[in-house]
Amino acid sequence: MQGVNEIRETFLSFFEKNGHMRRASAPLVPQNDPTLLFVNAGMVPFKNIFTGAEKPFAPRAVTAQKCVRAGGKHNDLDNVGYTARHHTFFEMLGNFSFGDYFKDEAIRLAWELITRDYALDPARLLVTVYAEDDEAAAIWKKVSGFPESKIIRIPTSDNFWSMGDTGPCGPCSEIFFDHGDKVAGGPPGSADQDGDRFIEIWNLVFMQYEQHEGGRRTSLPKPSIDTGMGLERAAAVLQGQHNNYDIDLFRTLIEAGEAVYGQKAQGDKTASFRVIADHLRTSAFLVADGVLPSNEGRGYVLRRIMRRAMRHGHMLGAREPLMHRLVPALVAEMGRAYPELGRAQVAIEAAIEQEEARFQRTLGNGLALLDRAVGDLKPGAALPGDVAFNLSDTYGFPLDLTQDILRGRGLEVDVAGFEAALEAQREKSRAAGFSSGDQATDEIWFDVRGRLGATKFTGYSGIAGEGRLVAIAAAGALAETLVAGPAELVFDTTPFYAESGGQAGDHGEIIFEGGARFIVRDVQKRAGDLHVHIGELVSGTARLGAKAQLKVNGVRRRQVMANHSATHLMHAALRKVLGPHVTQKGSLVEADRFRFDFSHGAPLTPAEIEAIEDEVNAQIRANIETGIRVTSPEKAIEAGALALFGEKYGDEVRVLSMGEPSGDGRPYSVELCGGTHVERSGDIAVFAILSESGVSAGVRRIEAATGAEALAWLKGRAQIAADVAESLKVPLKDLPRRVAALTEERRALERELAEAKRKLALGGAGGAPAGPEVINGVNLMARVAEGVGGKDLRALVDEAKAKIGSGVVVFVGTEGGKAGVAVGVTPDLTARFSAVELVKAAAAAVGGQGGGGRPDMAQAGGPDADKAGEALEAVRAVLKG
Ligand code: ALA
Repeated sequence: MQGVNEIRETFLSFFEKNGHMRRASAPLVPQNDPTLLFVNAGMVPFKNIFTGAEKPFAPRAVTAQKCVRAGGKHNDLDNVGYTARHHTFFEMLGNFSFGDYFKDEAIRLAWELITRDYALDPARLLVTVYAEDDEAAAIWKKVSGFPESKIIRIPTSDNFWSMGDTGPCGPCSEIFFDHGDKVAGGPPGSADQDGDRFIEIWNLVFMQYEQHEGGRRTSLPKPSIDTGMGLERAAAVLQGQHNNYDIDLFRTLIEAGEAVYGQKAQGDKTASFRVIADHLRTSAFLVADGVLPSNEGRGYVLRRIMRRAMRHGHMLGAREPLMHRLVPALVAEMGRAYPELGRAQVAIEAAIEQEEARFQRTLGNGLALLDRAVGDLKPGAALPGDVAFNLSDTYGFPLDLTQDILRGRGLEVDVAGFEAALEAQREKSRAAGFSSGDQATDEIWFDVRGRLGATKFTGYSGIAGEGRLVAIAAAGALAETLVAGPAELVFDTTPFYAESGGQAGDHGEIIFEGGARFIVRDVQKRAGDLHVHIGELVSGTARLGAKAQLKVNGVRRRQVMANHSATHLMHAALRKVLGPHVTQKGSLVEADRFRFDFSHGAPLTPAEIEAIEDEVNAQIRANIETGIRVTSPEKAIEAGALALFGEKYGDEVRVLSMGEPSGDGRPYSVELCGGTHVERSGDIAVFAILSESGVSAGVRRIEAATGAEALAWLKGRAQIAADVAESLKVPLKDLPRRVAALTEERRALERELAEAKRKLALGGAGGAPAGPEVINGVNLMARVAEGVGGKDLRALVDEAKAKIGSGVVVFVGTEGGKAGVAVGVTPDLTARFSAVELVKAAAAAVGGQGGGGRPDMAQAGGPDADKAGEALEAVRAVLKG
């Protein structure tokens, strides 16, 4: 049998042998198309090559591309797990010609691969072409020798492929496999084509056009080829299976699931196991590409998928997080083809486990609420929208999860009602979130932006310059003049950086012609690209239209720049030391320090922290000039610049390169960034990590500093060591040894002290007689043992029992204001006195209750150490009878 891994490899090496460049799968998060949620076909990463916007890296390429289809044009999440061929994650095998070969060779290569290398029987195959595509039909006839009846002409969009509403497209030709007449269904184009007998395994797209917005279609510069073979369905055919979930890869994952959930994948449970196996793949691959569950965008799609799987886990009886335990099986199956899985394994497990723990806290209650609501429904009624909304808002049930659960019972949700409840809540939070003042000022700035245009920012090249005052806002309204006090000012031109991309706004001062002085404490962007200078007029009068000298506080700006440049170097160092799964999740760059959040599943070890510091400091010492290029976002990302997920980039972006080029000539760090940076890496001077901590599932945070602040921090640490050495009167270099010796000494002293206390207690402390007293002919050793804790009392009692031979022993140990009581009775007396009874009496005296043990040894305790003497008296009283 050909396993999934061999089938993939056969495809890739077949096309490699035929002159195609083998390329790794692109990440699932599209790097070239902000409108697309996830890469959903093999051609997506090459979209701009097909349209001619980018030069091809080679004339021919072959890939196994990770794809996610989770809703939208190409998939319906609800079907997944219940049908034979729906997945949220799948691999698309594809060969591509970028203006090189066209239909003829595409068909010839496809035929050779499936009939020779994959050895499929031509009798079980048939193909479709677009109705008007005589050329493709003729080529098929020649290559396969098929009669007309096996080259089916399809006039509909089924044989015209497009990646979406816009983008490259063209007629296509599909190859079908016939599962035989035991399975119901007709050939493509027939009335019952939706049956399962004829299954499409490969789609050859003859890329000829580009679809533009508004329906216009133009010809591509060169006709090209894009093909797509779903690996899972191809594997099903090659492994003689009818259901994709029966291929080796899914069998292994489902078996791993059976072990983890302790159930068999049979009957009703089969679908749950399939859902979990499918969603596990999607979850793991998305986390590996830097997506984490959240409440918006890609993160929300991931959360929905995870929670759907977790609900099925719950149906299988999971009451604690279990799904993450399947990750090792997935890594074992797919980690060789996709090394990012192994690199991110820890992060994947952590993200899935934490999401499941979070969801399980509310899942049970949510299901109970849903059950009650369903019980109250009139026959045929839909679940009220506000109930579905409450489930989503309070219990974390995405709407489609509620729909999924209800569908199993033949019920629906009132979606319009759900949306109305959602909108009502948005209204409420809008009303609560904005004070009217903020909203008023916001409107002011949109108005100013509309009238006057964007602020011209000159601060990349200088920190001082002239500007004209174009807007004054004070007390929530626009003004013509400002006499004194707090205000927000806008100039036509400014060197002041406004907070963005994590970098804090500049501070400084503004001197107007005539001498008025305004102190700038912060600069914020408003209405997109207005730089609003926030601060206070401390002298004179400022009028609209006045010229002014704007001066950024240079010392502070230089610190901010050094910190910002250090975040870039550190980001690259993190990826080098921890792995390329590290992606930036947020940052805050201030003057004294910076904070950087990134995806990674485990706390950093001291060795990793040191390696990162060493990497960054080596780049600083290399003193390389910072490279700045302005280009289009697509070009920059194609050239390998790190772009941040979820950031919006304009038509032009700045590409910052820093640090020493490595073997392949690429600089150490290349990132898209609108911030201000040092001229040379040496300007950063020195870099130190101040702390490392966890922020949320799979996200870590580093706080770090550079320059004088880093030096001060390092010196502070050195000073602490020096102070300790000084107080211990040893040279600094001997400090570790001295501290180790002191610790050992202290341990020895503690041991000695415990021994002394024990001896003291046994020997008769506080004036007690050294030997036992005798009551009614019974030896009694009754002692208060100061500073002896509960666990040592027992040993003391045993020892005293041995010493007196026959009798009763009671010790009350006092520690921290509390009393512990231990009573022992020698075996010859247990018929007369029970240690349990005696300890109860003693414990009552120190305010305790109960006590436990055996007739010969029992222990208890109480809160009143100062009644220790009374506890001894209580035992004496029992002995006296
Ligand atoms: N891009 C084509 C598809 O997704 C091959 O079917």
